[in-house]
Amino acid sequence: MLDEKTRNSYLEKLAIGNEVLYLSEQDCKDTGTTVPEIIAATEAAMAAYSKKETEMPAKIGLHPMPDSLMHAMPAYIKSAYACGIKWGSNFPTNRQHYPGVTPTNCQIIYNDASSGLPLAIMDATWITEIRTPATALVSIKYGASNKARTFGMIGCGIQGKANVKMIELVLPELETIYVYNRGPAAMDALVAECQPKVKAKIVKCANPEDLVRNSEVITSAIPIAHTPAPFVKQAWVGKGKTLVCLDCHSVYEDAVYKSATRYYVDSIEQHELLKGYGYYPWGLPAITGETGALAAGLVPGRKDKDDLLIFNNVGMAVEDMLCAKIIFERALKMDLGVKLPLWKSTNGLQ
Ligand SMILES: NC(=O)c1ccc[n+]([C@@H]2O[C@H](COP(=O)([O-])OP(=O)(O)OC[C@H]3O[C@@H](n4cnc5c(N)ncnc54)[C@H](O)[C@@H]3O)[C@@H](O)[C@H]2O)c1
Repeated sequence: MLDEKTRNSYLEKLAIGNEVLYLSEQDCKDTGTTVPEIIAATEAAMAAYSKKETEMPAKIGLHPMPDSLMHAMPAYIKSAYACGIKWGSNFPTNRQHYPGVTPTNCQIIYNDASSGLPLAIMDATWITEIRTPATALVSIKYGASNKARTFGMIGCGIQGKANVKMIELVLPELETIYVYNRGPAAMDALVAECQPKVKAKIVKCANPEDLVRNSEVITSAIPIAHTPAPFVKQAWVGKGKTLVCLDCHSVYEDAVYKSATRYYVDSIEQHELLKGYGYYPWGLPAITGETGALAAGLVPGRKDKDDLLIFNNVGMAVEDMLCAKIIFERALKMDLGVKLPLWKSTNGLQ
């Protein structure tokens, strides 16, 4: 149960049961929630999930357009008493139809765990933009040497930029960040936006081979095709790297995953479900354990500098819900957002 003091602090600001707090993306940002706070919440959520301290069924989905997805993602984190559901979508062609609209768009309904009543309806596109690289950072923190000098980013869209801006928080000695995107415009945009924010020199690669051969740690975030068309060859990967996939098995040929010394996923249950949907036509390799289990010290990590470690983090609602709790509580205190009435009839249907 929420402690009395916290519950009263909610009730002072919100007539729970009669109204709900609506928070736009700007409202979420205006709470001042920081990137390090979202990283800490993400790591705590991943570890809690793997320690079985949460309730989170694997995400079910709809796929109305080719290579699109809409995922229903409920979660409850017992220790934080945080619960709700994210409805998150990725439609890679959005920019063609709606200028300025991104492929990934998400909303959260954040609920009161003792009554099920909605407390907030909030944008979760920004939460997703930051907590997704945060899952990569957790993987890299526990899977790679923090002395790495080179990092590669495959895919230079929203996720590419956010990953590059955040990477030095776990790899502080980076000298070079290699980036690759199909088409130069996204690479140019990434360099323009990210170079002023990182110490390492960002180098655009003309082809993925240069990036893969030169980078000790690589994160990828390109559109997830229902049937993947991987383009990175095993021969380019070599020894000792840490690869983080935020896009399932979209980038590397199957032999790469099968040759991993250790292969981690964020949620075994969730990836088994995705396998059933057909996302892994060549199957999943043997799974060492979950990323959160590695963070919690429950499964082994890198044992030798030549080990190839691969992480496949498709994203988990527990991460979103812990972030939502922080944002909801701050927004309430700061009087951000708009309170919307819940239609309530005391007399039943008229
Ligand atoms: N794991 C998670 O939790 C999570 C969360 C959000 C998004 N994602 C995934 O991350 C991916 C990227 O999302 P985004 O919001 O950055 O999209 P985006 O459209 O902004 O960026 C994708 C970039 O990849 C590039 N690209 C497409 N095909 C490519 C190829 N074959 N080689 C190199 N580059 C290629 C595109 O030109 C684009 O610049 C999507 O697959 C999305 O589903 C994952």
